[in-house]
Amino acid sequence: MAQVSLRKIVKEYEGGVQAVKGIDLDIADHEFVVLVGPSGCGKSTTLRMIAGLEEISSGEVSIGGAVVNDIPPRDRDIAMVFQNYALYPHMSVYDNMAFGLMLRKFDKGEIRRRVENAARILDIGELLARKPKALSGGQRQRVAMGRAIVRDPKVFLFDEPLSNLDAKLRVQMRTEIKKVHQTVRTTTVYVTHDQVEAMTLADRVVVMNGGNIEQVGPPQELYHHPATRFVAGFIGSPAMNFLPARLENGAGALRLNLPDGIVLPVPAERTNRYAPHAGKEVLLGLRPEHLTDARGDNRPGVSSFQAVPEVVEPMGMETLVHFKLHGAEICARFNPDAPAEPGRSLAMSADLNQMHLIEPASGRVL
Ligand SMILES: Nc1ncnc2c1ncn2[C@@H]1O[C@H](COP(=O)(O)OP(=O)(O)O)[C@@H](O)[C@H]1O
Ligand SMILES: [Mg+2]
Repeated sequence: MAQVSLRKIVKEYEGGVQAVKGIDLDIADHEFVVLVGPSGCGKSTTLRMIAGLEEISSGEVSIGGAVVNDIPPRDRDIAMVFQNYALYPHMSVYDNMAFGLMLRKFDKGEIRRRVENAARILDIGELLARKPKALSGGQRQRVAMGRAIVRDPKVFLFDEPLSNLDAKLRVQMRTEIKKVHQTVRTTTVYVTHDQVEAMTLADRVVVMNGGNIEQVGPPQELYHHPATRFVAGFIGSPAMNFLPARLENGAGALRLNLPDGIVLPVPAERTNRYAPHAGKEVLLGLRPEHLTDARGDNRPGVSSFQAVPEVVEPMGMETLVHFKLHGAEICARFNPDAPAEPGRSLAMSADLNQMHLIEPASGRVL
């Protein structure tokens, strides 16, 4: 087991495209870190540089305190699980898991011990004699993980391992991966474009965008305290709402002037934080759960305004209410018993204690 450090690592592909633009990251021993971001932001390239499958243009990668830039992948003591985890079709599950150890000349008893241990962790002990074609997608995915576990590497690297599975199985395997990590505690770097997967699995999430790191932190911290507009919009589903607003000083109190003549007073405890920005255009970011039915809502810092729902989506445990404010699409989460109907005006409350104000030019959260 080991910590992993990235120091100013850059990947420049032929033609001068910088896929990774000098990122720094320290991953602790036993930690489960997820790299998340939209397609093309440099997640796989970063992972492949850690694995040694991609040359590092500049910067340093170290594993367990030793710089590995010039160490070939097979000597880095890592195990990787990909989206396309080709199993050997003619080999049994047992042999699929044992094969890598046989190539490395492990003795038979040790191979058996490791395969049986991995099979127990993954609950595939009954399947060891089967061939891959007689397995379900989820079972194959477990075997692929088993191949990584038997290696007992310093670090596990996963690149979108669940992308080929259907939605239900993906959720199930996500839980399995978390369980496995809680058992083996191997340092893990996991790549996904799916923010839910990132939030649910990670000790710390690394949000990437355009070859850079936007923010690193525990899931709850990224959710409640995003540092940038990008992170605010990327983490959370349905996504955070954004509305252009003007921060104004009116009669000694700060307020937000929204389009369509809506004026919302800034909660007293946010005054010091925002006072220096009075007079500026900002972007108000508010999560759907902080826009709700205003009936009976007298909490301090919560203001209400009228809105006309366009679309109402009952989800069972909640109802999503979509409406437009000055052209911006807004989503609110209502209790399922709230009377929301398309086309009928209702009072909506905005919990500004939970708001984020963003500087439009920099995208920085104020
Ligand atoms: N072998 C390559 N040659 C040139 N450009 C590449 C190569 N591999 C990836 N890229 C580019 O590098 C960027 C990052 O790719 P990648 O790391 O695969 O993104 P992600 O895994 O986040 O979707 C993309 O713009 C991609 O087109
Ligand atoms: Mg990728």
